[in-house]
Amino acid sequence: MRNILVTGGLGYIGSHTVVELIKNNYTPIIIDNLSNTEFEVLERLESITNTKLNYYNIDICNGKALSEVFTKHQIEAVIHFAAFKAVGESVEQPLKYYINNINGLNTLLSTMETNNVKNIVFSSSCTVYGEPDSSPVNETAATKRANSPYGRTKQIGEDILQDCKFLNTVSLRYFNPIGAHPSSKIGELPLGIPNNLVPFITQTAAGIREKLTVFGSDYNTKDGTCIRDYIHVVDLADAHVKALTFIKENPENKFEVINIGTGNGLTVLEIINTFEKVNNIKLNYSIGPRRPGDVEKVWADASKAKLKLGWEAQLDLTEMLVSSWNWQLSLKNK
Ligand code: WQD
Repeated sequence: MRNILVTGGLGYIGSHTVVELIKNNYTPIIIDNLSNTEFEVLERLESITNTKLNYYNIDICNGKALSEVFTKHQIEAVIHFAAFKAVGESVEQPLKYYINNINGLNTLLSTMETNNVKNIVFSSSCTVYGEPDSSPVNETAATKRANSPYGRTKQIGEDILQDCKFLNTVSLRYFNPIGAHPSSKIGELPLGIPNNLVPFITQTAAGIREKLTVFGSDYNTKDGTCIRDYIHVVDLADAHVKALTFIKENPENKFEVINIGTGNGLTVLEIINTFEKVNNIKLNYSIGPRRPGDVEKVWADASKAKLKLGWEAQLDLTEMLVSSWNWQLSLKNK
């Protein structure tokens, strides 16, 4: 198994996964319509990997263009990242999310079926758990109706994959990806005002944002702020390579869901305090009201990933927050 189609391969997690694929002697074939990234990421990937990459500017809903890529390259597996992922935006524009995320997946799967390609790693999310009854949350926990159309598209996506019996699927339920490649050549590129905590922290530290608002300090947690499981994007990328190995070694597999998290829950204030300490920076922030839809606490039981994939997080919070800051600094010099 060598030629791997990486949809959304110039995005935040996709680009870091391309680096790990090449490290493991795969040939990534990248498609990306640049709706949430920049073409420059391709040049940076070629610089990091010292490899000329196959890239096509294709929309995942364009079945004709997608088929041409399958015909041109002997695709043996797909890693599917291409989807919109802003929770807040999905509440404002649900149809945009259902069309892109669900129609896109259906277009991909019908093209795979036509070309007799059955291996797929799907980008899912801990959002499918909603507010779990308890944490750490494992894969057998009931998935509750997600509180955003974005989360719904991940739940529906998993149902579609499970129903398509011709597939060999591993669905990776990401917790909170943060950090950047140690080269600082790729990282999270939030276009516009960041929704997520860490890019907002780094942009505040860089003076791009005036102040960070902590969304609520009256939760039932040690310091009143929400708890999440933050995972280094390079560790997350490695999990995709190990998922391909699992698929290769388990040709009879139909559908496996696997949490990808560290197993540690950290509060918002712990992230802020650690960021200040490891980067020797004073951050301008204040406590504000809760953000509607936020889950109070969720972190992973990551034991299945270790058992099935032989994967566990290697990089610690310091590396996550130092690499995030170094990436932000590199953007300043762009
Ligand atoms: C984290 C915490 C906020 C911004 C995201 C994605 C979701 C999934 C998981 C991929 C929360 C608080 C944030 C700010 C804050 N990823 N916060 N001030 O909401 O857990 O979900 O990761 O599938 O799709 O959206 O991440 O980074 O937005 O928030 O206080 O300016 O930081 O309230 O407690 P979230 P987040």
